[in-house]
Amino acid sequence: MHGVNLDQLGRRDPRHYPRVTLTELEHRIEATASELGLVTRFFQTNHEGDFVEHLHRLEGLADGIVLNPGAWTHYSYAIRDALELASLPAVEVHLSEVDRREDWRRQSVITELCIARVSGKGAPGYREALERLREELSKQ
Ligand code: DQA
Repeated sequence: MHGVNLDQLGRRDPRHYPRVTLTELEHRIEATASELGLVTRFFQTNHEGDFVEHLHRLEGLADGIVLNPGAWTHYSYAIRDALELASLPAVEVHLSEVDRREDWRRQSVITELCIARVSGKGAPGYREALERLREELSKQ
């Protein structure tokens, strides 16, 4: 699940973000997932309520979540509550190194609900996220 402004990948600050578009990134994620024996479904929105409602609908549709909520990560208790409701293993991903940017980006309201957090590894960070998720699912 990609949150706000992630649809703008390809034109975001190259000091922090890979030059790939979201479509290219999703193709890579899909290929990696299939290598790992996982099936992916993607969702991106710039509307917080839609992100929340998508989380509401995940029960029975997904075994786990890889999410990059973008700036909502730092303050959206609505998304945090919806993630808690989804009650699925989740991995938080950030393309950029959020802990080495502005102070406000250091706060994440979702980290404690996630089994892992991957930050600052660019597109390959999604491989790590999928691996962590697969490891968790294999325990169940
Ligand atoms: C981001 C980091 C956030 O601070 C930022 O608002 C984003 C993307 C990342 O992937 O590095 O939009 O989540």
